[in-house]
Amino acid sequence: MKFFIDTANLAQIKEAQELGVLDGVTTNPSLMAKEGIKGQDKIIQHYIDICNIVDGDVSAEVISTDFKGIVEEGEKLAALHPQIVVKVPMIKDGVKALKYFSSKGIRTNCTLVFSSGQAILAAKAGATYASPFIGRLDDVSFDGLDLIASMRLIYDNYGYETQILAASVRHPVHIIKCAEIGADVATCPLSAITALLNHPLTDIGLAKFLADAGKK
Ligand code: E4P
Repeated sequence: MKFFIDTANLAQIKEAQELGVLDGVTTNPSLMAKEGIKGQDKIIQHYIDICNIVDGDVSAEVISTDFKGIVEEGEKLAALHPQIVVKVPMIKDGVKALKYFSSKGIRTNCTLVFSSGQAILAAKAGATYASPFIGRLDDVSFDGLDLIASMRLIYDNYGYETQILAASVRHPVHIIKCAEIGADVATCPLSAITALLNHPLTDIGLAKFLADAGKK
């Protein structure tokens, strides 16, 4: 399973990259706003800065909601850097745009996927990635991991090449369960990635080894 980091914070992206386990980055307009990145020029420069830190795919989200606008915006974003993947919302014009981008060889991430039906449309339209938001489903009392499992079954049934990009990941158990089910990618906050490191028996064991190493 690939690990993407779900942030527009350059320091956190660098930290994850230096850990050596990072395969890409996802951003969204809320994450950009959280970092105070406003205005088209600054947003574009920020995407380029992110691409220069990581080796893998970087999702850049369109904010248009009509076919023409999504296509114009997406083509501009894709032209910024070869690592850019155009993030398109799961709406009717978004599906049409996914198909268009797919025919032009522009890679896409279909965002705001909350149901298996939406996931089928994303795959049929040729999305490179489909992003089910598991944490937000959990928030409204639906098990987000059930959606990952359903998507895995459906995509495998028909050999869809769209990759399942588990999004809205909140904690390390989400990551482990996504890996068990067979998500292709999990995009996670840095805190969830580094939480995978932790085990009290590791700390106790290391303390004992170091103490014993110091004995004569
Ligand atoms: C990533 O592509 C999504 O935009 C993101 O994971 C949403 O996460 P949130 O539900 O924590 O905002």
